[in-house]
Amino acid sequence: MDVRERIEQLRKLIHYHNYRYYVLDSPEISDSEYDALMRELEALEAQHPELITPDSPTQRVGGAPLEKFEKVTHPRPILSLGDAMNEEELRAWRERIMRLLPPGTKLEYVVEPKIDGLTVVLTYENGIFTKGATRGDGEVGEDITANLRTIKALPLRIPVSGDETAPARLVVRGEAYMPVDAFERFNREQEEKGERTFANPRNAAAGSVRQLDPSITAARPLSLFCYSIVASEGITITTQWETLAYLRRMGFPVATDVAIFSDFEEMVAYCKEWMKKRDTLNFEADGVVVKINDLATQESLGVVGKDPRGMIAFKFPAREATTKLVALGINVGRTGTLNPFAILKPVRVGGVTITKATLHNFEDIARKDIRIGDTVLIKRAGDVIPQVVMPITSLRTGEEKPIEIPASCPVCGEPTEKPEGEVAVYCTNMSCPAQIVQHITHFASTMDIEGLGEKIVQAFVDHGLIHDAADLYYLRAEDIMRIEGFAEKSTENLLNSIASSKVRPLWRVIAALGIRGVGSVVAQLLAQHFTSIDALAAASEEELQTIPGLGPHTAASIASFFSRERNRQFIEKLCRAGVVLAGEREAPREGPLAGLTFVITGTLSVSREEMTEYIETHGGKVTGSVSKNTSYLVVGDSPGGTKYERAQALGVPMISEADLRRMVERGG
Ligand code: IVH
Repeated sequence: MDVRERIEQLRKLIHYHNYRYYVLDSPEISDSEYDALMRELEALEAQHPELITPDSPTQRVGGAPLEKFEKVTHPRPILSLGDAMNEEELRAWRERIMRLLPPGTKLEYVVEPKIDGLTVVLTYENGIFTKGATRGDGEVGEDITANLRTIKALPLRIPVSGDETAPARLVVRGEAYMPVDAFERFNREQEEKGERTFANPRNAAAGSVRQLDPSITAARPLSLFCYSIVASEGITITTQWETLAYLRRMGFPVATDVAIFSDFEEMVAYCKEWMKKRDTLNFEADGVVVKINDLATQESLGVVGKDPRGMIAFKFPAREATTKLVALGINVGRTGTLNPFAILKPVRVGGVTITKATLHNFEDIARKDIRIGDTVLIKRAGDVIPQVVMPITSLRTGEEKPIEIPASCPVCGEPTEKPEGEVAVYCTNMSCPAQIVQHITHFASTMDIEGLGEKIVQAFVDHGLIHDAADLYYLRAEDIMRIEGFAEKSTENLLNSIASSKVRPLWRVIAALGIRGVGSVVAQLLAQHFTSIDALAAASEEELQTIPGLGPHTAASIASFFSRERNRQFIEKLCRAGVVLAGEREAPREGPLAGLTFVITGTLSVSREEMTEYIETHGGKVTGSVSKNTSYLVVGDSPGGTKYERAQALGVPMISEADLRRMVERGG
């Protein structure tokens, strides 16, 4: 094979695999295999520059920035589209056209997504992409060929595969767009680089396609859908359905979510169903387009203004609007985060009146420079709560006020904090009514208080029985029994499990406090260092920082926790209730059984004490009763009933003494 043939073969292959990847989303070869083909072609073309042609896959990006766009006159007017805003208007459209058509005409309807992008007009001569233009005023557009070449889903040569021949001339209409996931990624990257972001995929696509420097367009994640033939030579196509099939065969990207109907009612039902899919698709669709299938019938219906009568856009309710940001509101979340939201001048979006929209967090507000009094763009997508996208800065009057991070919690008035390295701003008060239920539930589960889940905590809080976790230890039976679902027995059980939680190991108490950044691992680290909560509370931030395994953020968070009067009072209250706030200094455990907790039952070859010592010298821990924290139950002869049954119920593995000794010998 000579070079010329090999080059041609490579181009064919690359065009085909490009199509599999970008159009069908179903690649047949790996990225590296594709890259290898591309590299080979590049090398051959470098040796034989005379063989480079514009339709070579190596020629997608290239060409110098333009001074301005040249004008392109379209071969036929690039028409616009009438709208139906609701079902009624869609029915009215049908009535209208039925009156214009010969009585008894049977119609077929093709339904396609109405892609929210930018119209492009693509010309192919003898199968080669030669010109791409914007719609412009419908008669004359702008030449954006160099930019469009960079869109990978656009075939530079047709057909991409198969043995059909290309028509002498084909002018195709389509929509360049930015896929939703790519748009979100792109905007994030722009933000990180400190460059402009776009309000929606449509603006991003339009802004990207109309760049004078094609290398900028090349870096934008654009894609394409084609849906009609504007002009052609050498082919005859009579229906819209055939058009879509033909475009697909030639290798154009065509929307897959299309359907054909002969029954109008079925078509309407389909359109309504379609709307529900809208948020699950990777392209923005602002509606569906209903087209009369037979092109001659379409043609015969003519045009009103710039809208052909033979098709109509059935629009979905809008999802964006602009309105005034009147004031700042703040919700305090269950974890203590201050969540800012915008109080808006009421505005209707997609049939719903919106008065509030989320502002995400204070960092986001600062980055977007959203101010009180701004006119803002808001977006309401599907079931997602409305959000403020950005301020319309061109409408500023100078009266707008910047939004500041509040120094105190709007619910309880206590100070707020913004931990370094975190986006969120928190209320520092663990008894803050906004976070109390979450806090007490965390406390109860960490202190292993059986039977005290979130629902019961909520009920106790609602009835005013508890205001913080320490109140649990002051609960009286007669109070609990006022709550629905509590009888004498269940009350007694709950009080017992609360009482038995008073003697938990120190690390559990530390973890139960809910200090930001202090989970069970850090709490155990702290319990190895300090023998009491008092000692921990007295430690300075510097001292805490010297503890191996403790980061500076956590050290700061601990110090700040204990510096607060309220938190000290809370610990006092626990202490007065008889909760043990000190423990043996827990030696860092090492050895094959490190981190494991054992319970012993039955008669072993050695005494209980000896076995306990054996386990402890090998790094393990022995406790008296089985819980979900038990790693193994060591079962001797004639095992006792409750431990055995509990282990079975909780699925705690049971081992023999011999198993245990083997475990130690094998090193864990
Ligand atoms: S057909 C002669 N089909 O929507 C009218 N248009 O609001 C040809 N659009 O300007 C239009 N998807 O840019 C048609 N499947 C689709 C479409 C579609 C998006 C755009 C098109 C048009 C605009 C009208």
